[in-house]
Amino acid sequence: MSTVKIKDKEFSIFIPETQILEAIQRLANKINEEMEGKNPLFVGILNGSFMFAGDLMKCIKTNCEISFIKVASYSGTSSSGEVKQLIGFNDSIKGRNVVILEDIVDTGVTLENIINQLKEHEPADVRLATLLYKPAAFRKTFKIDYVAMEIPNDFIVGYGLDYDGYGRNLRDIYKIVE
Ligand code: IMP
Ligand code: MG
Repeated sequence: MSTVKIKDKEFSIFIPETQILEAIQRLANKINEEMEGKNPLFVGILNGSFMFAGDLMKCIKTNCEISFIKVASYSGTSSSGEVKQLIGFNDSIKGRNVVILEDIVDTGVTLENIINQLKEHEPADVRLATLLYKPAAFRKTFKIDYVAMEIPNDFIVGYGLDYDGYGRNLRDIYKIVE
C-alpha cells in the first residue's frame, strides 16, 4: 500500500517496515552493549509504543523485565500540551535501571512529565529510548539516550502511531499528505 485514508486524511508511505526493523536492530545492539549485566526494567508507554516495544524486545539479549504504563497527551493532529496521569504504574522501580520506550518524541512534554513522575520512585538510572524523534519540534533540554530514527516535523501514522485512534495496526509508517 503506498497511500492510506484514515478518517478525513490521506497518508502516503514514508518508512517501510524493513527500514524500521533495521533501525530497531541497530538500537538494540547499542542497548545490549550498554545495559549488559544491569538487569534493566524496560517501561513501554502505551498505546503508541506497543509495536516498537515488541520488536525491540525480541532483539534484547541481556536479562531484563518489561512493563507498560499509559499516558495520553494528544488529540487530533496537534499536541494539546496537556499531560495526564500515568496509569498502571505499580512495579517497584526503586534502585532499578529503567529504560523508557516511547513511540515518538515530538515537543518532549509527555516524556519530561513521565521522567519526573518516574524519578519520584528513586530508580538508579532512567534512560530514554524512542523509535522516532522530531528535532524541529523538540522544546525541552533532556537527553534522549537511544533514537532509532530522526524525522521531519510532519504528522505520521502506523507502526503503533495513530491519528485519532486509527492507523496503529499499519506495519509501515505513513506521512500525512497536506
Ligand atoms: P510530545 O509530548 O509533544 O513529545 O508528544 C508525544 C506524543 O504525542 C507521542 O507519544 C505520540 O503519542 C504523540 N505524537 C507526536 N507526534 C505524533 C505524530 O506525528 N503522529 C502520531 N502521534 C504523534
Ligand atoms: Mg499517541
